[in-house]
Amino acid sequence: MKIAIIGLGFVGLSLTSVLASKGFNIVGIDIDKEKCKKISNGISPFYEPDLEKTLKKGLKNGLKISDDISLIKNCDLLFVTVGTPQDTNGAIDLSIIKKAASTIGKNLKENKKQPIIFIKSTVIPGTMKNDILPILENNSKKKAGKDFGLISNPEFLQESNAINDTKFPHAIVLGGYQTRFMKKAKKFFVKLHPNTPIIITNHQTAEMIKYANNSFLATKISFINQLSNICQKIPGANVDDIAKTMGLDPRIGGLFLNAGPGYGGSCLPKDMKALINFAKITGIKPVLLNAVEEVNIKQLDQIISITKQRFGELSGKRITILGTAFKPNTDDIRDSIAIELIKKFLNRKVEITIHDPQAIKNTRNIFGDKIRYAKSIRDALSKSQCVVIMTQWKQYEKLNNNEFKNMTKKIVIDCRRMLVKKQLDVDYYAIGLGREK
Ligand code: UDX
Repeated sequence: MKIAIIGLGFVGLSLTSVLASKGFNIVGIDIDKEKCKKISNGISPFYEPDLEKTLKKGLKNGLKISDDISLIKNCDLLFVTVGTPQDTNGAIDLSIIKKAASTIGKNLKENKKQPIIFIKSTVIPGTMKNDILPILENNSKKKAGKDFGLISNPEFLQESNAINDTKFPHAIVLGGYQTRFMKKAKKFFVKLHPNTPIIITNHQTAEMIKYANNSFLATKISFINQLSNICQKIPGANVDDIAKTMGLDPRIGGLFLNAGPGYGGSCLPKDMKALINFAKITGIKPVLLNAVEEVNIKQLDQIISITKQRFGELSGKRITILGTAFKPNTDDIRDSIAIELIKKFLNRKVEITIHDPQAIKNTRNIFGDKIRYAKSIRDALSKSQCVVIMTQWKQYEKLNNNEFKNMTKKIVIDCRRMLVKKQLDVDYYAIGLGREK
């Protein structure tokens, strides 16, 4: 059995590497030649723990990487993992996936096999039936359900845990018509993940499941962030004790209740916007989703207001940002809240120094020489007047009085409550903790 994966971003490259490392006959395809060259040499184009190790194992097993889409012609299974970004209005931009579908369709024409096409990219409900299916049929002159299978197969992996999530998904969703292709797909996944629940449903429900998951996760985060803002006004209150106790209630669950500066990343903000946009089209007023987004956007005000309260005028002040990646163990800064914060500070003429163990290069691509980039935490803090811990990198847990000693004013804003238990000789603020008067 030959498998093609089209689009080698986080989802596609993780799947390619994991399947190839397990010994499947895989070809990974991407239009970006440079990217393909890197990957063929065992180098990941982005930082993701365990990815390179898994990729190298896959390459040893004969994994092929190419920019030649015609290689799908003799494949039995095709996984489409191209990006579905947002357009300038926040709605989903389907142009990349439509183009991919049209190329796949053209190549399908000459495919002697009857392959199954899995769409893993996140798409709004109706996209499979209204867009992807007709594009594939028109370009291939073949019929879905008869000549090829078409299945919605949303992906739930988290960046920084992508390999593990690909190996051990919590659920597998297969959306589509109940055809022989669906039976074959189920058989493939049962063998691949024997203990994972498989949900078989129709296309539109499968498409909606992904938005349901991501919008609920965003809701949990905005909920705890709103609560954390209230806690900050109650002297001595601690949002973590509240979240921990809530998490013990099995109806709630403890994950995604970690208060902070707001959610970022390549999925939650984009998917929230797409769902809000889609809800409006259906005639439903997305009151709750709007509120979730609003809480998220306003969360940064907490940080700005602490700095204003301590400094008065912000212009010319020296502030250090620790962590620009949208979360630890990644170099990804897409929709990172730290990047938003830096932009807000720059608008107020603050002098910014940043540190991040992985994301300096990506951050430099945005800000160039408008900010300073420190190689070490100590260098980042030297002569700084205020430090904001944005990303929960393990390295920042070790911060102590010694590290802060070269700051000229020692204001510490800890958005992740990493230093709460330490005896620090600084002016300490933490998101979600009410300062004792
Ligand atoms: C998310 C979904 O979790 C994943 O299932 C989907 O496939 C893609 O989108 P990811 O973007 O990798 O994954 O990041 P995630 O771990 O969900 O974090 C998103 C943001 O929420 C980060 O900015 C993170 O810091 C923030 N977050 C997360 C919190 O502020 N508090 C939490 O408790 C959890």
